Amino acid sequence: MKAIILAGGSGSRLYPLTQVSSKQLQAVFDKPMIYYPLTILIAAGVREICLISTPLDLPRFQQLLGDGAHWGVSIQYREQARPEGIGQAFLIAEDFVGNDNVVLMLGDNIFSGGDDFPRSMAEFQGGATIFAYRVKDPERYGVVEFDRDGKALSIEEKPAAPRSNFAVPGIYIYDNRVLEIAKSLHPSARGELEITDINRAYMEQGQLQVHRLSRGFAWLDAGTSTSLQEASSYIEAIERRQGIKIGCPEEAALVRGFLSLAKFDALVQQMPKCQYREYLVTVADETRKLRG
Ligand code: DAU
Repeated sequence: MKAIILAGGSGSRLYPLTQVSSKQLQAVFDKPMIYYPLTILIAAGVREICLISTPLDLPRFQQLLGDGAHWGVSIQYREQARPEGIGQAFLIAEDFVGNDNVVLMLGDNIFSGGDDFPRSMAEFQGGATIFAYRVKDPERYGVVEFDRDGKALSIEEKPAAPRSNFAVPGIYIYDNRVLEIAKSLHPSARGELEITDINRAYMEQGQLQVHRLSRGFAWLDAGTSTSLQEASSYIEAIERRQGIKIGCPEEAALVRGFLSLAKFDALVQQMPKCQYREYLVTVADETRKLRG
């Protein structure tokens, strides 16, 4: 399974912050926003990742993430010249995806809790798997409606009159047919290649699985200054209470076995003295104890 992270767009709702740094590089509490989706992918065992962003922002992502080798993964980069829709990711990254299945993650979606994503990726057999999460304001999202047996009946993008309260978060698992489906898309009324049209195409072929995320699961939005602040507070509260970090790619790589303890130690040694480093030292010590 390969993965694409889409991290472009204009970030206009976060102006003036986005005048100097892209939305997905803004801080969510103690780390850049992009660390959160990246960590989900590493924790799920994905080793080949392609990050798509604007020509202006791409060098900054490259500076932050490099080629991924220090985390035991490979990160490639592709440009999206203009934000012409989430579905365009598959046209841009077609050569990267090759003949494989692919997960698409939006770089501004933050999740916490549960093992739904690693499990869904491990169990994925074909078609498309998307997720549903109950929200108060479904009209802001892709909305999925279920029949009595929990099967998807309809899926609509930002409907004025939503048929359910279930929004579709920005993580999607597809088989290789997504490349062909993306090529057949036409721009929507807002001029974008819509991810919801891809999901609808799978639904019409009877190939769409929708996995409902449970109540305790957190899906945070970081698209406006207020929601960015709220996401930071949420992450801070959980991290302080539990003494763990959410969205820490180094830790995920160690747990997943992408990094040996020796490589992990060497990576930590290169970091400046800071809380992030102190945390990773604790992780290394605990892992050493556990492994004996
Ligand atoms: O967050 C989940 C929602 O994301 C889904 O429920 C919707 O179905 C889906 O359309 C999308 O809705 P948004 O209105 O939140 O999409 P937005 O245009 O804000 O783009 C989401 C992220 O993707 C954002 O970080 C910018 C990036 N993006 C978006 C577009 C359209 C790109 O990098 N390139 C693009 O062309």
